Amino acid sequence: MAYRIVTLPGDGIGPEIMAPTLDLLSRLGEFDFEEHLFGGASIDAHGVALTDEVLDACRRSDAVLLAAVGGPKWDTTEAGRPRPEQGLLGLRKGLGLYANLRPVKPLEALYEASPLRRERIEGTDLLVVRELTGGIYFGEKTRTATSASDLCAYSSEEIERIARTAFTAARRKVSSVDKANVLETSRLWREVVSELHAREFADIELEHVLVDNAAMQLVSSPRDFDVILAENMFGDILSDEAAMLTGSIGMLPSASLGAADPATPGMFEPVHGSAPDIAGRGVANPLAMFLSAALMLRHGLGLASEAAAVESAVQDALDAGLRTADLGGDAGTAQAAQAVLDHL
Ligand code: IPM
Ligand code: MG
Repeated sequence: MAYRIVTLPGDGIGPEIMAPTLDLLSRLGEFDFEEHLFGGASIDAHGVALTDEVLDACRRSDAVLLAAVGGPKWDTTEAGRPRPEQGLLGLRKGLGLYANLRPVKPLEALYEASPLRRERIEGTDLLVVRELTGGIYFGEKTRTATSASDLCAYSSEEIERIARTAFTAARRKVSSVDKANVLETSRLWREVVSELHAREFADIELEHVLVDNAAMQLVSSPRDFDVILAENMFGDILSDEAAMLTGSIGMLPSASLGAADPATPGMFEPVHGSAPDIAGRGVANPLAMFLSAALMLRHGLGLASEAAAVESAVQDALDAGLRTADLGGDAGTAQAAQAVLDHL
């Protein structure tokens, strides 16, 4: 039976990188793709970034593949005006996707593309495990003309389930990120992570790292990390920083997963945004989108060997010299897609 995949191309370069991804996937298996408007495109058509129909379609799917949302057309600081990002947050919350996985493994072929020196990034192979449905992103917000607040709240239950994801994914070490010298949520975070570690994962090394120090270590000694566990906003910030280890944020995929029981469809998307500045020109790097499709195959559909086929085709294409503009080359989207297909 064909897998039912909801595809959300979204805005900007989204549709341009989604199209070759579906082409790639269709060579690996049988998929029913069901495309929906999302983000800015949905605001234009329906006045909201995520309609109930689309959320329902996602709930009924086997997996959701998302490209990117947002753009200057919908940028607003005006309270009450719909914003494309609300679609993303609504989907994460609506599907209960609390675990965001962002693997960062610079490919040898791209060592020179990173702003960091080769000897610093060589051998880096880390995973950012970001809590995705709690914290300051979803806390109560207030706003008057001259003051504003965003509440950061976490329950021990929310902390424990994401910590479990991190310990389960770790091969040797979990670096749990917090700001326990200042924030109460961080002190609870540290306590819950330590307790779970002692109870169930004592064979994995655990270290607690303050977020500012983690930001520093990410560029000074990225190789030392295995799994970085972080709450929602710290994980957001650190994963952009970690992305640059790979040479370009155009290379980083992500998986957002919910509870296994009852089974929740996962959502898979590149970490980069909709890049409105280069949209419509056919020059966007589709590789993070391809690698996100690989994560969908592995984590969303249990198709591990198909996932590995995509990942090694991407690696081989880069080894053979493929470079899009963000990596200092001049390959366009279509050329990059063809190069990957040639190695599939
Ligand atoms: C990400 C993005 C989103 C986030 C934005 C677009 C709301 O930066 O997925 O990292 O902050 O989570
Ligand atoms: Mg981000």
